[in-house]
Amino acid sequence: MARTRRRRRPLAGLAAAITGVTLTAGCVSGDDREAAPLTDPTAIRQIDPGGVPGLSTVTLGEHDARIRLFAGYPRIAGAEPLNGALAGQVDGDVRPFAERAAGTGPRPPDGAVPELNVEWSLAAASGDVVGVRLVTARSPGPSGSGGGETRRTIWYDGAAGASGAVRSSADLVNGPSALSRLASLVAARVAAPAVPAKLTADPRGVFSSLGFNGQGDLVTEFSDGSVAPAPAGRVAVVLGHAAYEPLLSPFGRRARDAALAVRPELTLRTAPSPPPDRAGTAPPGRPTGSAPPPSPRTAPQADCRVAKCVALTFDDGPGPDTGRLLDMLAERDARATFFVVGANAAAHPALLRGMHAKGHEIGNHTHAHRVLARLPALRINSEIQRTQEAVRSATGRAPTLLRPPYGEGGGAVARIARSQGLAQILWNGDGDDLADTDPRAIADRVVSQARPGGIVRLHDVRAASVDAVPAVLDRLDGDGFRFVTVSALLAGRSLVPGSTSGGR
Ligand code: NI
Repeated sequence: MARTRRRRRPLAGLAAAITGVTLTAGCVSGDDREAAPLTDPTAIRQIDPGGVPGLSTVTLGEHDARIRLFAGYPRIAGAEPLNGALAGQVDGDVRPFAERAAGTGPRPPDGAVPELNVEWSLAAASGDVVGVRLVTARSPGPSGSGGGETRRTIWYDGAAGASGAVRSSADLVNGPSALSRLASLVAARVAAPAVPAKLTADPRGVFSSLGFNGQGDLVTEFSDGSVAPAPAGRVAVVLGHAAYEPLLSPFGRRARDAALAVRPELTLRTAPSPPPDRAGTAPPGRPTGSAPPPSPRTAPQADCRVAKCVALTFDDGPGPDTGRLLDMLAERDARATFFVVGANAAAHPALLRGMHAKGHEIGNHTHAHRVLARLPALRINSEIQRTQEAVRSATGRAPTLLRPPYGEGGGAVARIARSQGLAQILWNGDGDDLADTDPRAIADRVVSQARPGGIVRLHDVRAASVDAVPAVLDRLDGDGFRFVTVSALLAGRSLVPGSTSGGR
């Protein structure tokens, strides 16, 4: 499974940047899956979502003894058909999984709880073209089968019709005969154990994810099990400009140009509404190279050696309700800790700056919220590192706290956390708010579980959880509690990188 790597060329003009045909039959498997370096020619170029006007995020989560579910995807103002398509795609993955997992069968043993995860990235967002890549990961079933990753890149053409149109990856190619030609080119380049006949038999079915790498080559990637046995993992083939250019549709050329834009600038015809990033007055996306914001100047926190302190923590965001949560906390001079998911953090840099400026603490909740123990060490490292960088890029400071998704660290996690200077923080009070839409019930649980020195978990991606916060603050304030960050709560106690605090 040799992979040919080419020297990285600057993006100075497409014609200059692209030469010849490349051939990568990248069959990435086992521990290398999704952990390839950024210069991997089979990696689809990712656009920074923080600079896209009108982009917000949707975050779905559920977890209990039977299920580990986390799904995120973007919404873009002015691209409503795309928003509907993304919601439909994710719902089509999430709903059957949740229904199956909610069945009345025996509770799975620890370590076998089924997991579904949907991760997104932007393959393009410039002019009137958007590309969104979704990767859905499923843990294997009890028999060891059924796991793997599904990959889709969904395109949006803002110039089509009055309201724009959703395009599939296959629509980047100019009709059935060009798609057959693409299938033949790719089939000739895949390496075993991929089966070339699976490409040519059903080109429209298997070409679910087409995008472009940083050099302008066409990347064709396939879902696990679609063109090779599932255990082979990701199969991706790269075609150079000369090979793919004659096959592109007119939309495919616009998609390519948008994907490679040096300064992506989305200009959809429908004027985008302001992003729900209400905490920040700065426009989304700090210009590259500008100085990080100054350290916050806020009142000192309570001294928890003498005061009755509790640390409220909010996981999985930021999201559309985080801005008003920051307002609620500011009204009562309460501090909190936000364990952010990197995908959401990168999409909301202004919210991160708002948290930092108001003296809240930002912790790391990994990039995509996967069960870390099921991932190879390289991937665990990148899950943590990407979130460190998203927070540092927005605020100038990297987190020192890690909350592993589902509270499940162990294995290599402690070692990797230690290597990145992170202490693991769990919780000993829980709003149990993921499946509850009643703010009063959530507030009752939080108040009953809060105790001096305690760490309480909530989720700021849930509107009901944010709605519960004023009552939580008022009632606990009435009991004499002070609301501090986790680091302030644990100040003076040993907070050793790699160690775990706050367990039940
Ligand atoms: Ni979480």
